[in-house]
Amino acid sequence: MHTWDELEIACKSCQKCDLHATRTNVVLGVGNRSAEVLFVGEGPGENEDIKGEPFVGRAGKLLDDMLEIIGLSRSRNIYIANIVKCRPPNNRDPHESEREACLPWLRAQYMLINPKIVVCLGRIAAGKIIDKQLKISKDHGKWYERDGVKMIALYHPAALLRDPNRRPDTFVDLKELERMIKTICTHTY
Ligand code: URA
Repeated sequence: MHTWDELEIACKSCQKCDLHATRTNVVLGVGNRSAEVLFVGEGPGENEDIKGEPFVGRAGKLLDDMLEIIGLSRSRNIYIANIVKCRPPNNRDPHESEREACLPWLRAQYMLINPKIVVCLGRIAAGKIIDKQLKISKDHGKWYERDGVKMIALYHPAALLRDPNRRPDTFVDLKELERMIKTICTHTY
């Protein structure tokens, strides 16, 4: 997969798992393809499936507000993708076989973007990208490093909607992310 065009065409006709049968749209990702910061969520929900864009529902609105606090926005300086590109029925967690089948698309995006920082939103993304053993309630806000790329897990915005008591921790994590961006990123943020 050498170009975004090739990736987009191949991914949009993907039938590597059963989620293709019930999808309206493949939700590849959104944002700046030259971003130094890549955000990864879990998978599309109903609104995302309809629009073909990640994080456009209530959780997406909260994510945009969180990003704004530290000068980030999907239209300018980050890219947002998901572990699975097609909506799991009734918003269930994607099965391990579905996560595995979909991972090559995220890998291809990662290679094209070549980010300095990867931000995992929630336990599903953190478990797949950082470490299977990661416990989001204990390990959010900690830095990990893979091949020189910094990785961090934050609570998923949907979890913050369900449990606002976690928001103060997320504010601290966002400020830590901002500090790291200022330290290692070269684009203007
Ligand atoms: N939740 C996610 O993890 N991803 C989306 O795109 C929307 C909601």
